[in-house]
Amino acid sequence: MTPIVDLAEWRRLRDGLGDATVGFVPTMGALHDGHLALIRRSAAENDLTVVSVFVNATQFNSSADLAAYPRTLAEDVRLAAAAGADHVLAPSHAAVYPDGYRFRVTEREIAAVLEGAHRPGHFDGVLTVVLKLFNLVRPHRAYFGEKDYQQYLLVRGMVEALLLPVAVVPCPTVRDADGLALSSRNVRLSQAARAQAALLPAILGGAPSPEEARQRLVEAGFEVEYVAEAWGRRLAAVVIDGVRLIDNLPLPAGDEAQMTRRTECD
Ligand code: PAF
Repeated sequence: MTPIVDLAEWRRLRDGLGDATVGFVPTMGALHDGHLALIRRSAAENDLTVVSVFVNATQFNSSADLAAYPRTLAEDVRLAAAAGADHVLAPSHAAVYPDGYRFRVTEREIAAVLEGAHRPGHFDGVLTVVLKLFNLVRPHRAYFGEKDYQQYLLVRGMVEALLLPVAVVPCPTVRDADGLALSSRNVRLSQAARAQAALLPAILGGAPSPEEARQRLVEAGFEVEYVAEAWGRRLAAVVIDGVRLIDNLPLPAGDEAQMTRRTECD
């Protein structure tokens, strides 16, 4: 399979797909088993699956982080095809942002807290590129991992708000055997930090309160950005070995108060 870079070529191909149902998995590449689970699910539920590989500069908060982001397109195409993708779309920054990012999508409530508070402008970049990719791919279903739970909620909200004809499908977080959520950033962890990182989901799930989780994470050597309960989940962002990790777990069923109340211990 050859990745499609040229948008005119992609549009011709998309116009020729007729009535086929199209599943879409947007990615920034560096594909891991979490992405592959999304691709497999899309391939099982749709006639055709499209994967985008686009390192979206507008959602990064630091140019160093953007520069350090792994770029492995040839391997991504191979893995996506093996998992059942029919097309990989890999457009250039100039093609996706002909306006130089003068136009953008902003959400003003969910995007202002937690990840949004710690990464100003991040969700503007995410929502803007997802809308552009939806317009290009015109998918029937789009697959998002629950590891980025706030992102999933915002994409779902944007689809409802802008009346977009796409079903947003949340997919469970894929974890390594020791519980660490798969992430393209994990490869940047030293061996010692990788072993320690598995304490993040263990503490997040095991502590009786977000305050206690924060304290245990600090004691375990993490720099804690936030631990919070919102939207029926307990969520956290930490830094270890200079690598920022996020995770979240569902709150036990029946903790209805947390479905609406947000508690945060920054
Ligand atoms: O989750 C990601 O990898 C990115 O935020 C996304 C959805 C591909 C947009 O760039």
